[in-house]
Amino acid sequence: MKPTKTSITLAPMTTLKITDGLIKDDVLVVGLVSTNTKGGLAIESGDYDLEAKNLLVALSEMGASGKADEVIKIPGGPTRLLVFTGLGTKSTNYSHETLRRAAGSAARALMGSSSATFALPVKNNEALNAVAEGIVLGAYVFSEFKGTTKSENKASLAHATIFSKSSSKAEAKSALSRAMIIGKYTHLVRDLINTPPSHLTPDSFTKKLAAAIKLAGGANSGLKATIWDEKKLKAEGFGGIVGVGQGSANPPRLLHISYTPKAKVFKRYALVGKGITFDTGGLNLKPGLGMEAMKSDMSGAAAICAATLAIAELGLPVAIEAWAPLAENMPSDTATRPSDIITIFGGKTVEVLNPDAEGRLVLADALVKAQASKNKLDGIIDVATLTGAQVVALGTRTSAVMTNNSEFSELFLNAARSAGEQFWPMPLPVELRASLDSPVADLANIGDKNGGMLVAGLFLKDFVNDELPWLHLDIAGPAYNEGKAHGYTPVGGTGVALRSLVRLVEQA
Ligand code: BES
Ligand code: MN
Ligand code: ZN
Repeated sequence: MKPTKTSITLAPMTTLKITDGLIKDDVLVVGLVSTNTKGGLAIESGDYDLEAKNLLVALSEMGASGKADEVIKIPGGPTRLLVFTGLGTKSTNYSHETLRRAAGSAARALMGSSSATFALPVKNNEALNAVAEGIVLGAYVFSEFKGTTKSENKASLAHATIFSKSSSKAEAKSALSRAMIIGKYTHLVRDLINTPPSHLTPDSFTKKLAAAIKLAGGANSGLKATIWDEKKLKAEGFGGIVGVGQGSANPPRLLHISYTPKAKVFKRYALVGKGITFDTGGLNLKPGLGMEAMKSDMSGAAAICAATLAIAELGLPVAIEAWAPLAENMPSDTATRPSDIITIFGGKTVEVLNPDAEGRLVLADALVKAQASKNKLDGIIDVATLTGAQVVALGTRTSAVMTNNSEFSELFLNAARSAGEQFWPMPLPVELRASLDSPVADLANIGDKNGGMLVAGLFLKDFVNDELPWLHLDIAGPAYNEGKAHGYTPVGGTGVALRSLVRLVEQA
């Protein structure tokens, strides 16, 4: 099926510049830290000399702490407004993630402002990139559905200048343009997650991505999209995607995006992302309280598709095969019943004991299809809001990594660390696999309740060739922020996994 053309509006993003001279904006952002002395504070303004000894006394009296996520605005200073953003305790070497979060908190506090200069301790290009990312990621608003009150909503910070003397012009330019690409595609992931199922169906997901691919340069950038509709999915034997989608009036899709680099191809990775545009639980209906968060059940698909576009725009020499199985999990007279048996692409049968364990069914189809590609893969990574057990085990800010290849997972964990995303390795204990045995099919879709995240990982492992390095990323908690905004992370869709995937490919 050829992608149909629809338009997509990418939210306007903060423009980024660099300066090592005069400050022209009327807002200046600097870092604030606590020192060893009790209640002591210090300013960290990087290469910019800020005379503010007397301000520190006032800040201390106000109860300022310099802690992360603390943002204090004071009128005056060399500009109209001085903004202090917490960097924690004084250090000679702030982590890039500390800088990213502090820049993000400040950018969030500057909603509605038109421009600001950020003077933070940026010692090298990586730090500059982190501050730039923090700014664009923090300056995010989702106002598409604000309707008549739209004009009353504060817009995100329009322009930011970063004060730095540390990098050459060319280096600085590439650090900023990389941050703009990361920002643009993280915003795309967030927009897709925040868009409710009334406006995001499997079909419209594919159309939005087709439009985004066109904006990214399409075939000129090495990008190509192919879409399977429900008829083709049925005809070709995608029993997982069809089974999960059959209860909904919005039929399922499979979206494939390939990126082929212009020059030499160093590696080829397949990315697979769970794309449930809404998860009601199917006939195993979820409780009403909190069900609205299940509009985020396509976060994995959004992350892998947007990461592929980012990788293409960065022109990285790694080929990507992205697969997004898309379906809406609804209860109805056509929905899959507990005890139904479906056949996954490639022939394995699954007894569906719980239609709420639907993610693994659509992923199984896509994982098998991805491995049937004619090109030899160096690795395959699936990304999914797969289990509530992930949230129980690791909380809402740390994602899980499961694997059949510890070397590959080390590579990923290093990439995630340097990208500033929290991932943690989890095991796939063989003894739990028996709980997925079914008396009537090759396997069942649920097993032991204990270790539910691992059982889900073991289910997926059944559909991956043992020789192919594979990672399973469960992002159930971190994909969607139901709490308060913090650092560069807004309420709602977060865009988690994109930065780690891009970094992994950059380091490949
Ligand atoms: N989409 C959910 C998992 C989820 C839960 C994501 C909370 C984000 C936040 C998934 O489809 C699901 O329902 N999983 C079940 C599996 C169970 C039936 C084995 C779960 O975790 O309860
Ligand atoms: Mn479910
Ligand atoms: Zn789900």
